[in-house]
Amino acid sequence: MPPTKKTTAAKTAPKTGSKTGSKSGPKAALALPAPKKSKAAAHKAESADSAAAAETGAAPGQRTVAVSGSQSGLGLAIRRHLEAAGVRVIGIDLPGKGAEVEADLSKPEGRKRAVQGVSEACGGTLQGLVANAGIDAKDSALTFGVNYDGAVDLLKGLQPALARAAKHGGAAAVVTVSHAILISPGVKVRAADALLDGKPGRARLWLGGGNPYPVSKLALARWIRREAPGADWAGAGIVLNGVCPGAIETPMLEKDLKDKVKGPIIRAMPKPLGRNSKPEDLAGIYEFLLSPQARYIVGQLITADGGVEATWRGDDWPRAWDISTARFLINLFGNKKSR
Ligand SMILES: NC(=O)c1ccc[n+]([C@@H]2O[C@H](COP(=O)([O-])OP(=O)(O)OC[C@H]3O[C@@H](n4cnc5c(N)ncnc54)[C@H](O)[C@@H]3O)[C@@H](O)[C@H]2O)c1
Repeated sequence: MPPTKKTTAAKTAPKTGSKTGSKSGPKAALALPAPKKSKAAAHKAESADSAAAAETGAAPGQRTVAVSGSQSGLGLAIRRHLEAAGVRVIGIDLPGKGAEVEADLSKPEGRKRAVQGVSEACGGTLQGLVANAGIDAKDSALTFGVNYDGAVDLLKGLQPALARAAKHGGAAAVVTVSHAILISPGVKVRAADALLDGKPGRARLWLGGGNPYPVSKLALARWIRREAPGADWAGAGIVLNGVCPGAIETPMLEKDLKDKVKGPIIRAMPKPLGRNSKPEDLAGIYEFLLSPQARYIVGQLITADGGVEATWRGDDWPRAWDISTARFLINLFGNKKSR
C-alpha cells in the first residue's frame, strides 16, 4: 500500500508494527460487484479512479476504511485483519499513538480534526468506518465525550464520504458498543436519553454517582437504532450496525481488572466458551459487517460476548413486541413517518 498522502490532519505512516504495505487487492469478501458500464464510461471511471487513488494513496479498486482507536486492543486487531484482506486503513487515535489521523475524540475540535483528516486522506470517498475508540473512566464528561460524541460526531461528519462511496457500490459503518448495555443492572436510562437529546450536562445530573460507561454505550446503541434505517444511512445506501463485545483481553480490561469493584465482578462473569475473548476473535465480525454479504443487516446490535448475555438474560430475549394490533395498524397505514 502506498503511503497516505500528507494532509494537515493526516500523517503518513502508522507505527503499529502491523503490515500496512500490502500490495494485494481486496479479498472477495470485501470486494463489491462492479456495476455494468459502457466501454467509454468504464475507461473514464478507471482514469478517475486511478487519479483519485494517486491522490489519496489507495491502489485502484482498493477499499478504504477508517478505524478509530486503531492503535490498541480491538481497534488494532480490526486494523490488522482488514489490512491482511487488502483494505487500506486510515487509523484515528490520540496524538502520539502513531495513527494516520491524530485527534482527541473527547473534544469537539478533536472530532472536527478527525473528520477533516479522514476526509482529506480518503479523497472524500470512504467505503467503511469503524467507530471503535472508547474508554471506561470514572470521569463522566470524558467518558460521554469519547464513547458517545466521539463516535456520533465521527459518523455524522464522515456520512457524506460514505454516501459518496455508497453511490458506487456500497458503504458500511460499524460501531463498537458493549454487552454492558444488556447485562448491567440499573443503567441510568434518563441519562442516556439526555445524551441523545444533546444535553450532556443534564445527562451528568441524571447519572448522579452512577457508572457513565454503560450510559454512554446505551445512548450510542439507541442512536444506531434510530439512525440506521433512516434517509441518511440505509436511504443513502450505507448500512449501520453495532457490535456488543463482552470482556476482551485488551489494555482496557487489564485496567478494569485492577479496579477493586469492577475486577471481582468481571472475573466472576460466566464463561461458556471457557475464556474471555482476544481482540483477534472479534475482528472478523467487523470485516463481515463491512462487506456486501451483510448488506441486509441494518440497525442491529450483534452481541459477541461468548454467551454471557444468553446465560443471564435467557428467555428475557427475544421479547415479543408490546404493541396492540390497533397501534400496529395505525403505524403501518396512518403514519407515513413510521415507515
Ligand atoms: N476490552 C473490553 O473488555 C471491552 C468490552 C466491551 C466493549 N469494549 C469496547 O471496545 C472498544 C475498544 O476498546 P479496547 O478494549 O480495545 O481498549 P483499548 O484501551 O485497548 O483501546 C481503546 C483505543 O481508543 C483510543 N482512545 C481512547 N480515548 C481516545 C480519545 N479521546 N480520542 C481518540 N482515541 C481515543 C485509545 O488510544 C486506544 O487506541 C471500546 O469502545 C470499548 O468500550 C471493550
